[in-house]
Amino acid sequence: MGRHASRYSFHDLRRDPGSFLDDVAAGLARSQKAIPAKYFYDRRGCELFEAICRLPEYYPTRTEIGLMRSRIGEIAQCLGRRCAVIEYGSGSGRKTRILLEALDPVAYVPVDIAREQLEQSAGAIARAFPRLTVAAVCADYSRPLALPRVDGIGARRRVIYFPGSTIGNFTPSGAAVFLRGARELAGTGGGMLIGVDLRKDPARLNAAYNDARGVTAEFNLNLLARINRELGADFELSAFRHHAFYNVRLGRVEMHLVSLRKQRVTIRSRVFRLRAGETIHTENSYKYSVAGFQALARRAGFKPAACWTDPEQLFAIHYLTVPG
Ligand code: AVJ
Repeated sequence: MGRHASRYSFHDLRRDPGSFLDDVAAGLARSQKAIPAKYFYDRRGCELFEAICRLPEYYPTRTEIGLMRSRIGEIAQCLGRRCAVIEYGSGSGRKTRILLEALDPVAYVPVDIAREQLEQSAGAIARAFPRLTVAAVCADYSRPLALPRVDGIGARRRVIYFPGSTIGNFTPSGAAVFLRGARELAGTGGGMLIGVDLRKDPARLNAAYNDARGVTAEFNLNLLARINRELGADFELSAFRHHAFYNVRLGRVEMHLVSLRKQRVTIRSRVFRLRAGETIHTENSYKYSVAGFQALARRAGFKPAACWTDPEQLFAIHYLTVPG
């Protein structure tokens, strides 16, 4: 931290550590077994996700970065200078740097559930932007969140940055609830810049979640490996197969882990049974048309103010404002 010590702070607002076990046990007790997608991101999961972002089939990351680069002038004009930027799911921070360079904000508050990655990328940003107040918050932003009191964020216009189309992990009604919370946090006069993957040819979507190198499969299976490591479970990884497909009716990519045989799994003396072919649902990734997402944003009390898409219509970046 060195000479930036006063401008950089780290706040661990994670709540009770027992919730991983509770969430996994509750999810595996359901008739359609399911585990929340936020648990993908342990250290290995973050590494695998970064590898996914570089895959030739996984178009969202490079498309969104390309859009940020080519439209940053207009984007910065919409958001305005000297605001406070709150970022959800800050990840590696590649897109963030493009935004921070253009905006010259007063404060930057990255919020992420992955502690190590957050410390690393927020620390690097604090060093790269010495005038910026950086307050890193380790928290699950899918739940209501009170930000730490940090100089610079109270009085300023707040803009929430939510890149990566992670909004797609929520169901549409869950997304509306989440966006309502974001609107309240941004406050009147504030805004939200959000990346949203567009609906498109199912073949393109299926390829993006079934890469030839099997990195997405490894990312999916790492969830079971993590449960084994952290909760002492006995999932046999070779008895499960990655399955991802675009569900046209629901407008979402679904990821599952398919049990290849009848089996039982033990987690801290709790036993769960799986039939051959039964699945554990691990992720939804909803895709939205521009109009469809704008309707959702309006439901949450935002006013759609601008939208940028790439020439191939793969990805959209929306700017939403909070009317008075
Ligand atoms: C980080 C949630 C946006 O849904 O595309 C990538 C995660 N899952 N490949 C997505 C993911 C499989 C990603 N998000």
